[in-house]
Amino acid sequence: MTRGTTTANRLRRADRWIVHRCGPALSAAADPLVVDLGFGASPVTTVELADRLRAAVRPDVRVIGLDIDPLRVAEAQPAAAPPALAFASGGFELAGLRPVLVRAFNVLRQYAEEEVTQAWATIRAALAPDGLAVEGTCDELGRIATWVLLDRSGPRSLTLAARLASLAEPDTGGPAVLAQRLPKALIHRNVPGERVHALLQALDRSWQAAAGYAPYGPRQRWLRTVAALRDGGWPVLDRPARWRQGELTVPWPAVAPATD
Ligand SMILES: C[S@@+](CC[C@H](N)C(=O)[O-])C[C@H]1O[C@@H](n2cnc3c(N)ncnc32)[C@H](O)[C@@H]1O
Repeated sequence: MTRGTTTANRLRRADRWIVHRCGPALSAAADPLVVDLGFGASPVTTVELADRLRAAVRPDVRVIGLDIDPLRVAEAQPAAAPPALAFASGGFELAGLRPVLVRAFNVLRQYAEEEVTQAWATIRAALAPDGLAVEGTCDELGRIATWVLLDRSGPRSLTLAARLASLAEPDTGGPAVLAQRLPKALIHRNVPGERVHALLQALDRSWQAAAGYAPYGPRQRWLRTVAALRDGGWPVLDRPARWRQGELTVPWPAVAPATD
């Protein structure tokens, strides 16, 4: 039995990015099936995902919340609205479904690092041919979040996302705080010699160097920070319109564990 902690709006940052990055695959899919894996003690974030995808991507999306705990599945049933929204028992095999999109948030953090590769492989094998999975972690209120995008061939990118006003608060410590919420595949790799450690160090240095932008607000400071990272040779993805949201996305090879 694992903890099922969740809360309304906790996954908004990831959902916003999912609409941007995974929306086209969902739009193009013959069967717009989405799985929310490990929805937790309340179905609230699954309901939100369904609402957001329906409003921003396509109205006929079908979302199925899966959880390994049958009690949570039973308790979620009143929120179901089949066929658009349903809840069922299932694990990394995705209950035999073939979704075009999987969101799995705050699930793998309860597992050992050695179990991540197999869990990812099982999820990837269950995806539709052009399917995508977003596996990540966030804090209790969703102010900081990180996630890995995967397709059937493997991990594609890492995204770090934060509420910028929180980062700028004096006792937060700036973007270094993101290290506490890295995905399981990387959280033990924030040590010298690992690429993700080098990224977080460079991010912190750029944030400190951009302190002169603080009077213009945390968004301007973050934009300057990400631009400096890119200018320093980090393969930053996406355009400043995404950076403005408090995001930083890099290709997976830029942060993959040294032993990968
Ligand atoms: C901390 S909750 C996360 C809730 C929600 N996704 C969130 O981020 O707020 C983790 C949930 O994952 C479920 N879980 C753990 N291992 C799982 C697995 N292999 N397959 C499906 N669900 C799993 C647990 O039962 C729990 O309800």
